[in-house]
Amino acid sequence: MPKTIIVSNRLPVKIKVEKNEFKTRPSEGGLATGLGSIYKKGNNIWLGWPGQPIKKESDKAKITAQLKKDNMAPVFLTQTEIEEFYEGFSNETLWPNFHYFNQFAVYNTGLWKAYQKVNRKFAKEIAKIASPNDTIWIHDYQLLLVPQMVREMFPRISIGFFLHIPFPSFESFRLLPWRRELLLGMLGSDFLGFHTYDDMRHFLSSVNRLAGFGNSNGKMTVNNRIVMADALPMGIDYDKYASEASHPDTLTKEVKFRASLGDVKLVLSIDRLDYSKGIPQRLRAFEMFLERYPEWRDKVSVVMIVVPSRDQVEMYKQLKEEIDLLVGRINGKFSRLAWTPIHYFYRSFELSSLSAFYRMAHVALVTPMRDGMNLVCKEFIASKLDKKGVLILSEMAGASKELSDSILINPNDMEEQVEAIHQALTMPEAEQITRMTSMQESLKRYNIHHWVNLFFDRLGLVKAEQKSLE
Ligand code: UDP
Ligand code: G6P
Repeated sequence: MPKTIIVSNRLPVKIKVEKNEFKTRPSEGGLATGLGSIYKKGNNIWLGWPGQPIKKESDKAKITAQLKKDNMAPVFLTQTEIEEFYEGFSNETLWPNFHYFNQFAVYNTGLWKAYQKVNRKFAKEIAKIASPNDTIWIHDYQLLLVPQMVREMFPRISIGFFLHIPFPSFESFRLLPWRRELLLGMLGSDFLGFHTYDDMRHFLSSVNRLAGFGNSNGKMTVNNRIVMADALPMGIDYDKYASEASHPDTLTKEVKFRASLGDVKLVLSIDRLDYSKGIPQRLRAFEMFLERYPEWRDKVSVVMIVVPSRDQVEMYKQLKEEIDLLVGRINGKFSRLAWTPIHYFYRSFELSSLSAFYRMAHVALVTPMRDGMNLVCKEFIASKLDKKGVLILSEMAGASKELSDSILINPNDMEEQVEAIHQALTMPEAEQITRMTSMQESLKRYNIHHWVNLFFDRLGLVKAEQKSLE
């Protein structure tokens, strides 16, 4: 039976050593949480890094056996590979460039070599388990070279690629010294999916200008092979979030959290630690809001969850310090004995706690400077069983293209953010329900299963067209 091999840098679980035993914990981040519900089907398999440097061969064997039970296979990275490929080229070169933070980007040939080497390592691991009739589905910016590397080993195999972060405009992408090699790597795929139409257009424009392949409606001919690109916005497992929101564990947690927070309205902020998420700007906007609307002091608190991420990378370390200082300053300035403006958590939470926060929040404040999609805002909407609550969403998030019934803001416009918080807190219930209902209907329909089906349909169409031309 042909299988699908999902490949991403990070597996949907992380290995943790506890009392000499290997335990797994779910990974954070949209890619892992989004696809988490679909890979266990049939003989499919998910290949990726289990999140820890493992040295001993006996430990590697144990982890491999443990993951196998859940349809996963590990690609082990050494400490140097983690530093140079993952923290280095992936997160200090590609991530800032693709999110338009070019002032943070590091250009270093050594890191590029490590990126090539680790991409080759992934391709070899794929080759060990792949058969020519399988489908290989490669994910995200850490593995841009893998499609072409696999193509060289399996010329006719089906290869799909999905980019979970923005694809930048040519003016940003061209700054990368290895821009052409990166594109040619991606073009080893048969079908490439992007979250938004703009991402797809930027990709096609770079392909045209740097590799010389023109396109017609996203279709290109690359070395006599048809390759197609399209925009497919990723959805969430809507039913999972909706049913978690009515689970007894969630309700118990909600009661507990509510008792601790007191009788205030709640503004919710959830992100991985990342400069692309606009966390300091959001904090400053909340500070300005409390200055401008003193009548809201005592009556509203922010619950801010920052999930630790990439904390060995210098810009992430600096961001953490900036956030700590800002929260301290704002709380120091406004706190009263019975009221804390910002409840700040630098940790991750399990799903039932997240769900309780989603349920309780009057407002979700999702204001990234750039975000490929942003699933947090979609999860918030799916958790609102009573349809009450307001989403404030940055127009720089891919999700803004679908969620036009949110209050859309430009995260650089502090005035607009402050007024959006006020508008959200004072929005009549009837209007909240109207907006929420329309967003829920769209997210219910364009859910994760719809997205996966659409992806495979498109990939199938390209393969069929290639065959018809043979
Ligand atoms: N998340 C999590 N644990 C937490 C907080 C968040 O697993 O304590 C999840 C959240 O539910 C969401 C994902 O992390 O599914 C973040 O995805 P998003 O697309 O919003 O951003 P990304 O981290 O991929 O940039
Ligand atoms: C984003 C990226 C993913 C990544 C995740 C978490 O969602 O698109 O590829 O896995 O962030 O980041 P990390 O560096 O911890 O894998």
